[in-house]
Amino acid sequence: MKAIRSFIAIELPYEIQEQLQQVVQQLKFSLPDIVHWVAPKNIHLTLRFLGDVSPANMDVLKEALKLIAGKHPSFEVCPGGINAFPTRRRPRVLWVGVESSPILKVLQQAIEIEVQKLGCAPESRPFSPHLTLGRVKQNASFEAINRVAAGLTNLQQAHPVDSFTVHQLTLFRSDLKPGGAVYTPITTVSLNQNHEVK
Ligand code: 2AM
Repeated sequence: MKAIRSFIAIELPYEIQEQLQQVVQQLKFSLPDIVHWVAPKNIHLTLRFLGDVSPANMDVLKEALKLIAGKHPSFEVCPGGINAFPTRRRPRVLWVGVESSPILKVLQQAIEIEVQKLGCAPESRPFSPHLTLGRVKQNASFEAINRVAAGLTNLQQAHPVDSFTVHQLTLFRSDLKPGGAVYTPITTVSLNQNHEVK
């Protein structure tokens, strides 16, 4: 059987997707049209991108994820302002930041340790929790990217995004299609519901 391109993420409640849709509408209105926007239902908080996972490792991963989730409580996620990777002045990926709560970090580290046991190379970049809203098109001109940068600098975010409670984690498969990646949940595991960290 073929390896599965996959990642672990937090799915967003419907009302948060709707609020992010408002943010995207504002950005569409105020930035040049050189961004591929992520459909609101596809916006998520990635905890770990895994790349290709063999079917055998997939079974181990599902079990490991279930165990990790059971050891960590539900927690609150607090979305913040709009920002960009690699930097606001050279925007390629536009995102809404997420306050890195201690429990989110601990959870992400536990996942990191487990996926390395399965043979994933260590993540070289520091964990920077975010919700990707859009990606600047590959063929965008330098001048257009500069206008996005200027737009971001002048932007007053008109639509705040509410905090929400995370109760579960999702392992997704990502299939690369001509129209963009298609994300499909493989399994969803529940965090420990006995206590919640605010
Ligand atoms: P992003 O939100 O910052 O774009 C599924 O592709 C998810 O995994 C995306 O949310 C993406 O993060 C994240 N991801 C991290 N590293 C990736 C990589 N090398 N290739 C594709 N997606 C990656």
